[in-house]
Amino acid sequence: MLEEVLRTLQPKDGGVYVDGTFGAGGYTRAILEAADCTVYAIDRDPEAYARAISMAKDFPGKLIPLHGCFGSIAELLETQNVTKLDGIVLDIGVSSIQLSTPERGFSFQKDGPLDMRMSKAGPSAADVVNTTDEEELARIIFTYGEERASRQIAKRIVAARAVAPIVTTLQLADVIHSVLPMHGGLRSDTATKTFQALRIHVNDELGELEKALQAGEALLQPEGRLVIVSFHSLEDWRVKNFFKERAGALGNNSRHLPAAPTGPKPTFILEKTNGLKASPEEIGRNTRSRSAHLRYGIRTSAPAWAGGVHA
Ligand SMILES: C[S@@+](CC[C@H](N)C(=O)[O-])C[C@H]1O[C@@H](n2cnc3c(N)ncnc32)[C@H](O)[C@@H]1O
Repeated sequence: MLEEVLRTLQPKDGGVYVDGTFGAGGYTRAILEAADCTVYAIDRDPEAYARAISMAKDFPGKLIPLHGCFGSIAELLETQNVTKLDGIVLDIGVSSIQLSTPERGFSFQKDGPLDMRMSKAGPSAADVVNTTDEEELARIIFTYGEERASRQIAKRIVAARAVAPIVTTLQLADVIHSVLPMHGGLRSDTATKTFQALRIHVNDELGELEKALQAGEALLQPEGRLVIVSFHSLEDWRVKNFFKERAGALGNNSRHLPAAPTGPKPTFILEKTNGLKASPEEIGRNTRSRSAHLRYGIRTSAPAWAGGVHA
């Protein structure tokens, strides 16, 4: 979505931007090459942070790496005395580097420790799987994986861990496959939804997103741009409702998005209410981009609202 990100973020000379998800640095590099601007590059993954430090040598004084979560964007920027931004981009989810490194434990394509921690800190997926009670496990799998067999999977996990702790990705995948067997004709692995659910839970991905949306609203100056690329409907739903709410358009279908007659003034203008999808060419090059959904809003001069998404 690089082209679409640049088109909607519109980096300008002298601008101050945050790339909240540095990853391999593709977006950060492109922003810095598009304009003579400054980018604060955040990532919670210590390996991504190390890559940002290395890339910063190519952009002295213009690329400032910050290690931490984008939910804490205001606190991270405070350490740099930055309180106003011209743009923020978040390309949320895991990076292909994280996914393809078995030691990080995000994937069941190859065996690895059941880890899934982007920050490499806090409770791992193995901790969650081996210590959470059955009902809560089922809730996590249902809520964050939208997995209809969540109760059966949770039950089978609890039975399996009573025999031996589940510590690798393939061990967990085997337990899931014992409930939902794989057979030809399936479009994706039956373990996918449960792995997604654990990853979202372990990294508090939806809580992080919610915090970043509110912080972004407070940090952007008038005409600043908030650009979010998400990869699944749970995230996209939150981004969509946040923008609709802040544009004063919740509960009405007007394309012109007028403000509600009462209540706070809109803090964002939406140019494309349905957001943008990857081009057919990009999907041809990278099938993962098929699920990507970009939404963006342009900050008005109205004061930031208090509180989260009410939709
Ligand atoms: C999809 S990748 C970003 C790829 C990047 N746009 C690029 O061009 O390489 C997502 C990155 O965001 C990081 N990340 C995810 N959630 C985060 C959060 N809450 N705070 C900070 N970084 C986060 C991940 O560690 C990962 O490196």
